[in-house]
This record gives sequence, structure tokens and C-alpha cells, in this order.
Amino acid sequence: MIISFPIKSNIDSRRSARSYKMISVEKVVMESIQDFVKSLSVPFDHNVEIKFFNANATKTLYTNMLSPPDNIAFVAETDIISISKVGFIGELLILFAQSKGLSTCWYGHYKLSELESLMPHLQSTDQLKESNMGYGYSKGVTTGRRVICITPLGYYEDGGLRLVDRITKKTSSFKRKDIKDLLENPNDYDKLSDDVLYALDLGRKAPSAANSQMWKFAFENSFKTITVAMTVGYKHFKWEHPNVDIGICACHVWLGLIDKGYNPSVTVSEDSGRAIWKISI
Ligand SMILES: Cc1cc2nc3c(=O)[nH]c(=O)nc-3n(C[C@H](O)[C@H](O)[C@H](O)COP(=O)(O)O)c2cc1C
Repeated sequence: MIISFPIKSNIDSRRSARSYKMISVEKVVMESIQDFVKSLSVPFDHNVEIKFFNANATKTLYTNMLSPPDNIAFVAETDIISISKVGFIGELLILFAQSKGLSTCWYGHYKLSELESLMPHLQSTDQLKESNMGYGYSKGVTTGRRVICITPLGYYEDGGLRLVDRITKKTSSFKRKDIKDLLENPNDYDKLSDDVLYALDLGRKAPSAANSQMWKFAFENSFKTITVAMTVGYKHFKWEHPNVDIGICACHVWLGLIDKGYNPSVTVSEDSGRAIWKISI
């Protein structure tokens, strides 16, 4: 598998941006993103669609910031495996955009009625009613294909923050748990190879809703298989779809192993309401 952007540096430099210049993405850059989408290949079957759409400079769609002109939506069915694949595939695109100097932010809570007017995609009006208090798509598995998450795509607007604010903002947004705290069995730590530790380090840096970092790592097959999943019964009071985040983390682990020269195989299955990713070398 060939990844067309530097893996570690883009993972390390990506941050969620919630302030954008109100200008369109340069044409050549947009074309490179569209080409990336067309040629995107992952080591599993999927039905995820990446749709580009334009928005007006209002706070209606994202509510906590103005929409830049260019945006992307990830469309899929709403079962656990499909939304987890949205995480994996969407994150590849987000990291590619990062490598092109663009900023992004995963959004699970957006104004669905506004999205539907900007980018009609729902198959019935009932689908609009299912959204939680008007934000996001619905509480759980529901009918049809629909947008799972969206992201703005554009140029970060510094907003004149003082240097000290910028530094505190950056460090607080990039706070992550240590690998040891993410192992299902902490005693495994001393048995992990440098390559596996490298992949887990990229995995722990994945973005997650409210920075919840709900993933746990475990091992099979003499540590040649890394599993990424949340613990049984995990719930977050504000975010209804943590399996999206699990797919994002699995993507980072997979990229980490690719960066170390492996061609890992990837499977995802469902168990007790969770997506279980297995990445094997
Ligand atoms: C699946 C997902 C959904 C998210 N939804 C929102 C959202 O609705 N609103 C928001 O402001 N940020 C959202 N975020 C961004 C997270 O808050 C952010 O990724 C996390 O705090 C870590 O910060 P970082 O991305 O800068 O590393 C979401 C992130 C993920 C992965």
C-alpha cells in the first residue's frame, strides 16, 4: 500500500480548526483532493461516499463557527461497521488535506436541516425528524444512507490570538492518554516491539469527539495482530457514535505499520455494539 503523504508529520501537525478564512480552496489544491478521493483505496470493502459541498458564511451549519465556502460530507449507512468505516476513510482524507496545507475539523454535531438544504441527500422527511435536537443524524442505527459526519475544508484563520493563547490552545487540544493507559492488559506493554509501539503512538494521537479517546488496544497472534475497539458498554453523554472515532484510531494504527514498511491486513467486525478492528502484520 502506498500512502501519498508523509504519515507521522501530518498526524503530528493536524489540529481541529474552528476558525477559517472565508475564501475558497485554491483550484489546483481542490483538484488534488478530488483526485485523492477518486483513487482512494483501503484494504477492505466499503460503501462510504465522500461528497463535496459549498456553504454560506453563517453560523447555522456548525453553530460554533462560520462555515468556510468548501466542505466535505461522509455518507454511509448507519450500522456500526459502516459508521466505523466512515472514520477510517474520512481520516485518510483529513490527513491528505493536512498535507496540502488545509485545515479541517470532524463534526458529528451539525445542523442537519441546514446541511440538507445545502446538500440534499436524505431519502425521506422522516430522516430529518430523527436527528437529535436538530443536530447530527440520529441517536442510533436508522434507515437509509445519510451523512454521518462533515468537515470544513479551508485555510485556518488565526483570529489574532495572542501567542500565549495560541500555545495554551494547541497544547490543550492535543492532550492524549499514554499508550500504557490504553492497553486492555497493561502487562503487555513490555512485550511490544518498537514498530508496534510506533503504530500505537500514532493511534493514540487520533482525534475523537470531545477528545474522549475511547479506544483500547489488545493483541492476538503473538502480538502480530493489534485490535482497536472500545470497552463493552462504553457510552458518552454527548456523542452517540463513538464507533466512528474507533475507525479513525484504527486508520492511524494501520498508517503507523505502513510507515514501518509493513503491508498490514485489516478486518472489522461487530461485537456487543462495538466495531472491532484487527490490523495484522
Ligand atoms: C467523530 C468526531 C466528531 C467530532 N464532532 C465535533 C463537533 O461536533 N464539534 C466540534 O467542535 N468538534 C468536534 N470534533 C473535534 C474534537 O473535539 C477534536 O478532534 C478533539 O478535541 C481533539 O482535538 P484535535 O482534533 O485538535 O487533536 C469531533 C471529532 C471527532 C473525531
